[in-house]
Amino acid sequence: MKAIAQDVYGSADVLQLRDVDQPSIGADQVLVQVRAAGVDPGVWICMTGRPYAARVAFGLTKPRVAVRGRALAGVVTQVGADVQAFKPGDEVYGTSSGGTFAEYAAVPWKRLAPKPPSLSFEQAAAVPISGVTALEGVRGRVKAGQKVMVIGAAGGIGSFAVQIAKAYGATVTGVCGTGKAELVRSLGADDVIDYTREEVDRDGPHYDVIIDTAGCRPLSLLRRALTPRGTLVLAGGGHDAGGLFGGYTRQMRAPLLSMFTSQRLQGLTSHERAQELKELTQLIESGKVTPIIDRAYPLADAPNAIRYLAEGHPAGKVIIKI
Ligand SMILES: NC(=O)c1ccc[n+]([C@@H]2O[C@H](COP(=O)([O-])OP(=O)(O)OC[C@H]3O[C@@H](n4cnc5c(N)ncnc54)[C@H](OP(=O)(O)O)[C@@H]3O)[C@@H](O)[C@H]2O)c1
Repeated sequence: MKAIAQDVYGSADVLQLRDVDQPSIGADQVLVQVRAAGVDPGVWICMTGRPYAARVAFGLTKPRVAVRGRALAGVVTQVGADVQAFKPGDEVYGTSSGGTFAEYAAVPWKRLAPKPPSLSFEQAAAVPISGVTALEGVRGRVKAGQKVMVIGAAGGIGSFAVQIAKAYGATVTGVCGTGKAELVRSLGADDVIDYTREEVDRDGPHYDVIIDTAGCRPLSLLRRALTPRGTLVLAGGGHDAGGLFGGYTRQMRAPLLSMFTSQRLQGLTSHERAQELKELTQLIESGKVTPIIDRAYPLADAPNAIRYLAEGHPAGKVIIKI
C-alpha cells in the first residue's frame, strides 16, 4: 500500500511517499481503509523527535513506527477474531498508533467509533485527536454559567474547545490572532481577544477556566486572568521544541505550583477512546459541534500539510485525503 513514511528524524523533507506492507491485524484489531487522516502538532513531534524527551516514547535514535499520522476516518475492511463491535463496510473514526497517512491502518477496536453520519470523512478525521483533547479539557471542569477563556481559539483543539464549552453552557472568550475573530465568533464565542493587540489578563482575574492551547505564556500571566479558585488547563507546548522538554516545562511546574495556591493548575493528557468519540458524536449530531477544516491535502502532499501546520496558525484543522 502507499504510505507517508520516514526512516530518520528530521524536517518534513525526510518524509517519503512509498510502498509499505499493508498492516496485519491482531485479534482485537480492525483493518480500516483510510479515507482521511488528521494532521496535528503531535505528527510534527513524531517526525522531528523534538522535544527530545518525546523520543523515549517514539524511538531513541529513529522513529519506531515509520508511517506518520494518528487520527483517521475510513471504512472497515477486516476485523480480528475477538471484535464484535464492527464489521466490514462500517464507516468509522478513531486513532491508530501504527500510522494513518496510508491507504490502510490497523486500529484497536476500543479506539474506534462509528463515524458521525452527518460528517464527511475529512470532517470526521479532524475529530479523534483535537476534538477529544478539547472535550477532555472542558469535561469535568466547565460548568454552565462559568466564564471560560480558550487561548488558540481558531486552532485545531481551540476550535473544538470553544464549541464544546458553549455546549456546556459557558460564556466563552476566544483568544486568536488578527483575522481570525470572525471565525472564532462563528464558533459561538461571546467575546474575542486579538492577542496581537491585547493580553489575556485584559479583564483582570475574570475567568473560571482557561484552556491554553498556544503554550507560550508564563504561568504568572495566565494566573492573573484566572479567578482565585479558577482552573488553568495547559494543553499545548507551543512552538518551543528546544531542549529536553521544549515548551512542556509549564505542564510539569503547574501541578507543583498548584499545591501552594487556591487556583487549580493542570496539564492535559488526552485519552482517545471510543467513549470520548461517542460523546463527541452526540455533540456533533445534535448540531452543537462542527469540525472546522482549514485545508485538505492529497496523501502525496502530506509533507506540505505538516509544513503548513508547523507555521502555527491554521484556521481549524489540516487534513490528508486518501
Ligand atoms: N494534551 C494533549 O493531550 C494534546 C493533544 C493534542 C495536542 N496537544 C498540543 O496542543 C497544542 C495545540 O494543538 P492544536 O492542534 O490546537 O494546534 P494548532 O492547530 O496549530 O493551533 C495552535 C493555535 O495557537 C494559536 N497561537 C499561536 N501563537 C499564539 C499566541 N502567541 N497567542 C495565542 N494563540 C496563539 C494559533 O492561533 P492564531 O492563528 O490565531 O495565531 C493556532 O490557532 C500543541 O502544542 C499540541 O502539541 C496536546
